[in-house]
Amino acid sequence: MTETEITQIAAKYYPSAHISGVKVLNNRIIIEFKNLAETPNITAALKQELLSLQPEYKISVVFVEEKNINLGVQAIEKWKIAGVKHIIGVASGKGGVGKSTTAVNLALALANCGKRVALLDADVYGPSVPTMLGYENEPLISDDGTHFKPFCAYGIESMSVGALIDRDTPLIWRGAKACGAIEQLMTETSWGEIDIMVVDMPPGTGDILITLSQRVDFSGIVIVSTPQDIALIDAVKGINMFQKTGTTVLGIVENMSYFICPHCGERADIFGHDGAKYTAESMGEVFLGAIPLEPEIRRTSDAGTPIVAANPDSPHTKAYEEIAQKIIQRIG
Ligand SMILES: Nc1ncnc2c1ncn2[C@@H]1O[C@H](COP(=O)(O)OP(=O)(O)OP(=O)(O)O)[C@@H](O)[C@H]1O
Ligand SMILES: [Mg+2]
Repeated sequence: MTETEITQIAAKYYPSAHISGVKVLNNRIIIEFKNLAETPNITAALKQELLSLQPEYKISVVFVEEKNINLGVQAIEKWKIAGVKHIIGVASGKGGVGKSTTAVNLALALANCGKRVALLDADVYGPSVPTMLGYENEPLISDDGTHFKPFCAYGIESMSVGALIDRDTPLIWRGAKACGAIEQLMTETSWGEIDIMVVDMPPGTGDILITLSQRVDFSGIVIVSTPQDIALIDAVKGINMFQKTGTTVLGIVENMSYFICPHCGERADIFGHDGAKYTAESMGEVFLGAIPLEPEIRRTSDAGTPIVAANPDSPHTKAYEEIAQKIIQRIG
């Protein structure tokens, strides 16, 4: 069944003006409605009709609240970030998929490719870069009284929203305040000369992320997803959001892609296989590569010595470096 046919069926059940997306991914049909209250028996009837036509498919119907996104009709002024040539955001539709682990190791891999790299932790919901780079107990300092001095770890410059907050205080910043903090860190840090700044973005598709995509002059966004459907559905929402704000998506990384048994060496696809690759293809985006589910990746980043720095010869380091090379090629 084509996406157009599915859209026509969906329009029999809910007003077509509220259909904001229809996708067929692997063996799943995803229909997204925006700004509409769900009526459970209508959804059930819609699913039933689709299932009667495509019994082998799984059907997901999602309802999203969408604020008005300024589609670039009027130019929004970008933040001025001195000394930084390219900015790459690392984002995920869903939390906990390994966005920060990927951002940190990718930043180090870009440095291994000869670039001067900065890593900004803008994840106001759970800043974890200070732990992963081992600077969480260091104080925030300023040499000139107007600009922060970035933390230096393994040859890259870094700054985190975590440095502005007390670790034991839960963060309850919302929209404007969170964006103000991120703006301050980006524009009032003496970064020096940087080729590529990697930004660990907040997860999801909320207001903060929309503001960042409008205010920061991104060279592009790297989307991190795990292979299972549920994470991919959120990755699709994330990609749609960036496409709408006119932000280039550089591609998708599949994290926790497969597991190599340390005892028998056999490969197991715990969360399924190649889901991110198919998603990338079906959305006209690039598949950047796969990183395995690997205890050493978790151990090293928890210990503040990410694998790319701790174990330069590991095959996992090579996997991050290959993704870094593809990104360098894409941003030119
Ligand atoms: N490829 C991997 N192999 C093994 N463990 C991993 C891998 N990637 C991430 N992890 C582990 O999974 C957990 C979640 O990863 P991480 O904190 O990077 O995710 P996140 O998407 O940034 O999460 P959050 O939404 O909480 O910010 C961490 O304990 C991390 O060490
Ligand atoms: Mg994180």
